[in-house]
Amino acid sequence: MTVKGTTVRKWLLGGLGLLLVLCGCGVAVVTWVLTRPAVDTVGKVAFDRPLKVPPLAASTVDAGGTRVFDLTAQPGDSDLGHGTTRTWGYNGAYLGPTLRAKRGERVAVNIHNRLNERTTVHWHGMHLPAKVDGGPHHPIQPGGDHQAAWTVDQPAATLWYHPHPSDLTERQVYRGLAGLFILDDGKEPGGLPHDYGVDDVPVVVQDKRFDGGQLSMSDKFLSDVGILGDEILVNGTPGPFLDVRSTLVRLRLLNASTARVYDFAMSDGRPLTMIGSDGGLLAAPYRTGHVRLSVGERAEVLVEMRPGERVELRSLAPGVGRFHGGRDTFDVLQLRAAAELRPVTPPGTLAGIERLDPAQAAKTRTFTFQGRQINDDRMDMDRVDAVVVKNTVEVWNVANGHDTPHSFHIHDVQFQVVSVDGGAPPPELGGWKDTLFLEPRRRYSLIARFADHADPTTAYMFHCHVLRHEDEGMMGQFVVVEREGDRPRLGHD
Ligand code: C2O
Ligand code: CU
Ligand code: CU
Repeated sequence: MTVKGTTVRKWLLGGLGLLLVLCGCGVAVVTWVLTRPAVDTVGKVAFDRPLKVPPLAASTVDAGGTRVFDLTAQPGDSDLGHGTTRTWGYNGAYLGPTLRAKRGERVAVNIHNRLNERTTVHWHGMHLPAKVDGGPHHPIQPGGDHQAAWTVDQPAATLWYHPHPSDLTERQVYRGLAGLFILDDGKEPGGLPHDYGVDDVPVVVQDKRFDGGQLSMSDKFLSDVGILGDEILVNGTPGPFLDVRSTLVRLRLLNASTARVYDFAMSDGRPLTMIGSDGGLLAAPYRTGHVRLSVGERAEVLVEMRPGERVELRSLAPGVGRFHGGRDTFDVLQLRAAAELRPVTPPGTLAGIERLDPAQAAKTRTFTFQGRQINDDRMDMDRVDAVVVKNTVEVWNVANGHDTPHSFHIHDVQFQVVSVDGGAPPPELGGWKDTLFLEPRRRYSLIARFADHADPTTAYMFHCHVLRHEDEGMMGQFVVVEREGDRPRLGHD
């Protein structure tokens, strides 16, 4: 009895001790999670390197009038502020040159894969035939070459290109594969800065995490969106500054990160004048305190400068949930004004935008983002989720059904936002878009015209542009057919 009693007591004490230790650990973990500070680099960035500007890609015009570019995806060594870092780039070690073409021009890009794994090059925001869209159906093997050719037919815009192979998109973009594709249409109003790299400057923003000198792909604890870095690169430059020589500088902002949402603002609170969204100029300039961009989105903004001053572009906390980087703040780019500035007066109106009318829609579809699925499905290259008739207008109702932020992107078309949760969209969503931040538990109604390029044999994609989600299959396919009743015939060239 005594012996037994002792044993029971020992057990009880041991159990109690174990419980206390477990509780202690639990409390420690919970405390750490709750109090762990957000990333905050404001005031800690040196701004001691001149902003690199991606070179304009060289091109030749062949006998038939086609503008021909060459892009080679290749490994290289980069100085990203941590010694020598192994990176990937196009025609160089990190990122790629800026391609530039005019509306009406025929372009051809010769792509060379000199990586040790398959890749593709997708033309994000471009209206073009599905066969040359660079989706996962057409991988370019290591050592392989591929030509994509099409005729540019859409308004002036800041588009971009990046890999789109199945499963590998996040890491390929993260290692450095991305570049801008700027379109011109000869209709830009006078007064907008347009001297590339001088007063019209690409600002490709990416967050990185370093492990020693190398890029780390490790996830942030409890993040549901993939890699969230604690340092910012702009055009591959750590701690960048830009010398400004006019009273107005135009920044072409691209969020080329894999997961992070930014909320851009100026350090002293001066307004940004937003002039363009993904697919081109807005109807009129829109003055705002901040511009939020989810993965893949672009915005063109004007910043007013006074002689001799320094001011920083920052990213404020975008409020997307703390485990998705929602409380993180960053210093991004310092603008340094010269003692004397060339005066620039911006135009009052920017572009005529034809409003698409939901009453004209041939079809209304609904897509709900939840988990890693769209309408309870993951990507299946053999399944067509939507068959669209050429030259018709469709309304797509897109909803985020849960608390993870997503970024919705459609290939081939630029769309307009009809409503957000049933109400009128805010001014920053008033122009052409190809990518849209899906806030948790919100509903968006979009409208697009699927002009030209019918091809029953080849699909376009729509997907979440959080690259981890995309790689995990948060993607669907649509096919554009010539007329009502035509069936898709995937892969039957
Ligand atoms: Cu920016 Cu489907 O891609
Ligand atoms: Cu795209
Ligand atoms: Cu997503």
